[in-house]
Amino acid sequence: MKKAGLALLTTGLLLMVGFAVQASGSGAEKIDLKAKYQIEGKKDAVVFQHHQHQEKLACTKCHPTTAGGPLSVTIVNKTGMGNDFHQKLCWPCHIEMKVPKGKMCSTCHK
Ligand code: HEC
Ligand code: HEC
Ligand code: HEC
Repeated sequence: MKKAGLALLTTGLLLMVGFAVQASGSGAEKIDLKAKYQIEGKKDAVVFQHHQHQEKLACTKCHPTTAGGPLSVTIVNKTGMGNDFHQKLCWPCHIEMKVPKGKMCSTCHK
């Protein structure tokens, strides 16, 4: 009896934790893109605020499906101002959605 009660309680707690995680976002909260993509360069690393973006945008704005994971765009060029993060992912959307200071270097590199 005691064991069953404990098992039930544990399951309940795990479910609650699960929902809490779901509600506060999917995947990592913040992602250091410089480290993840092993980018070499002098600019300060961009730590992408993943969950903050999820509050305003559907997963499919950046990922092929709602499960997330891989990006819809393929990042090949990782050097200089013409890098694919600038050109294919971050800048086009910031321009389209008129994000305040969305193209200012210091908004992303810090
Ligand atoms: C504005 C763009 C954007 C949106 C919207 C977005 N993501 Fe992401 N996501 C990224 C970027 C950038 C990465 C990091 C690049 C990589 O992993 O290749 C990432 C990585 C991930 C990863 C794997 C890496 C990790 O550490 O977690 C998962 C899982 C994920 N996203 C799930 C989601 C889900 C689920 C949603 C919707 C609730 C979502 N994302 C919405 C941009 C976005
Ligand atoms: C909307 C976000 C965003 C803005 C604004 C932005 N960048 Fe980037 N930039 C990135 C991301 C993401 C990367 C790839 C990850 C990294 O290097 O940390 C990158 C990489 C770079 C790189 C290649 C890597 C390196 O360290 O050499 C350079 C150069 C660069 N940015 C310069 C700039 C300059 C200069 C500005 C302002 C004119 C700027 N960026 C504005 C997001 C941004
Ligand atoms: C599909 C659209 C979309 C993409 C792609 C996108 N962003 Fe954004 N980003 C937004 C929007 C919308 C906001 C404004 C959010 C708000 O008002 O809170 C924003 C805001 C930001 C901010 C400012 C946050 C603040 O506290 O003011 C940073 C930094 C940022 N994005 C970085 C990035 C980087 C780096 C990338 C590429 C890896 C990226 N974004 C890709 C839509 C996008």
